[in-house]
This record gives sequence, C-alpha cells and structure tokens, in this order.
Amino acid sequence: MKKVITYGTYDLLHEGHVNLLKRAKALGDYLIVGVTNDNFDRERGKLNVKNNVLERVEAVKALNIADQIIIEDYVGQKIDDIQKYGVDIFTVGSDWVGHFDYLKEFCDVVYLPRTEGISSTMLREKEQKFVKVGVVGVGRIGKRFVSECQYVSGIEVEAAFDTDQPRLKKYTEDNKKIKRCTSIEELISMVDAVYVATPHLTHYAYCKSAIQQKKHVICETPFVLNEEQAIELYSLAKENNVVLLEANKTAHCPAFNHLMVMIKSGVIGKVVDVEASLSKLLEDKTLREFDPEQAGGSMYELGSYPLLPILKLMGTNYSNITIYSRIENDIDTYTKGILHYPNAACSFKLGLGIKTEGNLIISGTKGYAYVPAPWWKTDYFELRYEDQNMNKKFFYKWDGEGLRYEIQEFISCILNERYSSARLSQKESITMAKIMEQFTKRENFVEI
Ligand code: CTP
Repeated sequence: MKKVITYGTYDLLHEGHVNLLKRAKALGDYLIVGVTNDNFDRERGKLNVKNNVLERVEAVKALNIADQIIIEDYVGQKIDDIQKYGVDIFTVGSDWVGHFDYLKEFCDVVYLPRTEGISSTMLREKEQKFVKVGVVGVGRIGKRFVSECQYVSGIEVEAAFDTDQPRLKKYTEDNKKIKRCTSIEELISMVDAVYVATPHLTHYAYCKSAIQQKKHVICETPFVLNEEQAIELYSLAKENNVVLLEANKTAHCPAFNHLMVMIKSGVIGKVVDVEASLSKLLEDKTLREFDPEQAGGSMYELGSYPLLPILKLMGTNYSNITIYSRIENDIDTYTKGILHYPNAACSFKLGLGIKTEGNLIISGTKGYAYVPAPWWKTDYFELRYEDQNMNKKFFYKWDGEGLRYEIQEFISCILNERYSSARLSQKESITMAKIMEQFTKRENFVEI
C-alpha cells in the first residue's frame, strides 16, 4: 500500500484545497492529511485564520477524501509523521516548490499544481470587515502600533492626532496613508475606533470623548490612575455599546495566557505567592517617565505589568496593600509593594533608573513557575518541582513588538460584538486604577 501525506491550514475550505486533496489521493492508496493546530498557526505568525482547528478538521473530513486526519503541532513534526506512519510520498501545492526538499531523505516529495485564482487569504480578505482606527499620541508607542497593525486582519489606521504638530507631521509623512488631524474632534469623527497612546494623565479625557461619540477605544496602560474614572469609563462604554480595552501587552501575549491557564488548572497546586519585578534604566532623564507633572515614576509607568499576574491568579479581593518607595526629584525611582490576601502575601518590585532582577515566580503547594526576565514579554517559562524529573520547560515566540496580540483581541472584540476580554477583565483593570490611586494618595505608604 502506498501512503501519501499532505499538510495545510485548510481555512475557509475552498476549491483549491479540494483539487489538491484529490490529486494527493491519486498519488497512492491511502491519504493522511495534517491540519495545523491553532497554536502552531499563531506561532508561525498566521494570526488571521478564521476557522478553528475543529472546524477545519470537520471541513476536511466532510470531503471524504482523506483516509486519516492528524493535527500538526510543531516544527519538525513532518519528519516524525513520515517515519511513524510509514509514508511513501509527501506532497503539497506548487506554491511550496523547493521548500520541503529536505524531506527527500525520508520519502518521495511531490509538488502538485496549485489551483490558480483562489486562496484562503483571498477569501478572508473578501469577507473581512475593516475597523478604521485613529491614533491619538504619536510618540514611541504610537509608532510601533502602526507597524504591528500590518500583522492583524481587519484594521486600517486611518488618521492620527497629536498636540505636538511637528511630530504629527513627521508621523504622517512617514506613514503616507494616515491622515493628519488638526483636532481630536476631527479624528474621532473620521474613525470607528481610537488608540490612545498619550501621556497617562490625558487618557481619561481622550477615552471619554471617543466613547461619548460611540467609538471603540483601546487605551495604553496604565489606563487611568483613579478608580472612579475607570468605573465611569467602563460603564460609559457599556451604555454606548462600544469596546473599551486596556492595552496591557503582557495580558494578550499567548505564552503568558498559557501560563495563566496552566497555573489555574492546578499544575503547581494551590498558588500561595506571586512575586513579579520589572525595572528600566533610561539614560535620558528629560523623558516623560521622569516628569512628576506627567505622572512619571516607576509605579505609574510599570506597575500594571506585575499587578497583572498577581490579580489574575489571586483575584482582586486583597485585604490591603503596603507600598514602599524611594522618591527622587518627586518621582518614585524604586517601589516595592506587598498585596496581602487572606492566605498569601504577593509582592512586586519596580525600578526606573534602578535595576533589579526582573523575573516572575509563582509558588504553589506542588511546585513553582519560573519566568525569567523579561517575563512581561513572555516567551519561555519553566515549571519546577521537588522531583526534578518532573520539571518542564515551555518555549514560545514573542513576535515583533508584541502589540499585535492586543490589537488582534481589540479587533476581534469589535467584530464579534464582545464587550469584555477575559485576558484583562474590567474588574482587574479597575483594580489596577484603584491601586494607582492608593499610591497617589500615599495610603499605607512608606518612604524608604
Ligand atoms: N492549495 C492549492 N491551491 C490553492 C490553494 C491551496 O493547491 N489555490 C494547496 C496548498 O498548496 C497546500 C494545501 O492546498 O498544499 C493547503 O494550503 P493552505 O495553506 O491551507 O491554503 P491557502 O489557500 O494557500 O491558504 P493561505 O492563503 O492562508 O496561505
């Protein structure tokens, strides 16, 4: 019996796929079809696949061409599969010519003619609805946003606004398709959604104006520095039927999400402590980060990152928080916080101009999770146990600037009319604002 194997995503199954599968089957007596797993596609940078793996497998199965369907999970699996299933021929469409020649060591490799004029990409683009987004604040992060948008389907950056006109002019010259707006009102009127990437203290007013005009909003972290404002904005978003998302990039990163769900499913037992740190040495002391008038300092600037795993794993019902800060030139250059829970004391350390080890350690009754610096760009973590034979390492990819994940979630929320994201719930975001407010009011605060 001659065994043939072929692989693909098979998203929005189309005539090209059917032709290819028929041709593949005709090469032998038994056809195995490998369908890519959702995670594998994401890791390969394919963030826009429409059907999930179950739907794609079902669609291929319904054609009744394949004798066996398997899931493709990892790079290198093709070699394993060829050996495992005793495959004689590996085949794919002619768009891949040469790419899989390395498999010739293991079996015959045949590139079949591809059907012209159709692809999943074309179908996705045809049915894709686009969200027009306006960027408010074209500083360092505003620039990265545009380059990251190209990896997400369904978004078009339409316009930009900044109070710094020369900077805005440069931005729109560098990005020719983006319209330069002379006022925030003009920008809001032109778009479906707004990305707020201005200094912290201006977030509230920009978010509010956009939401009141029924525009969806994604706002850079820290969202606002006051609990009441956070509650008000989320309820205003609800009233106006718009999505409001805090753009905490770690919250949307696939590896971090995987770590959170694994811990919640009990792989290290009951969590008793979360320790997270993050520090930055910035040479240029004239930056916004060092300016007390613009809410500079390590707590406002960096605090939402370590608070994220603490609040996600231990919840928002802490008993109290004590904050210790070193204050220099009216900003906190170093802050240490302890969140007391009924059965736990979690802690974080932040530095701006002071460096400390930036890792994340989650301790549990059966083991602990260790995420080395920079844990907030999670691409690797370890689960460690008393019996070292049980230790496990997990590797992922952090693509580009990492903003594409939050942008993708934002667009997905808008297009699917999903008004909240489990990756960073409104309650968690509001609690972060509440903690920032406590810090501003110097409650339970010790200067060190
Ligand atoms: N294929 C084909 N003819 C087409 C499209 C795809 O023969 N018009 C083949 C590919 O060469 C591959 C298999 O179908 O062997 C599965 O391809 P897949 O990547 O799932 O399909 P595409 O439509 O090419 O998807 P995308 O646009 O996302 O790359």
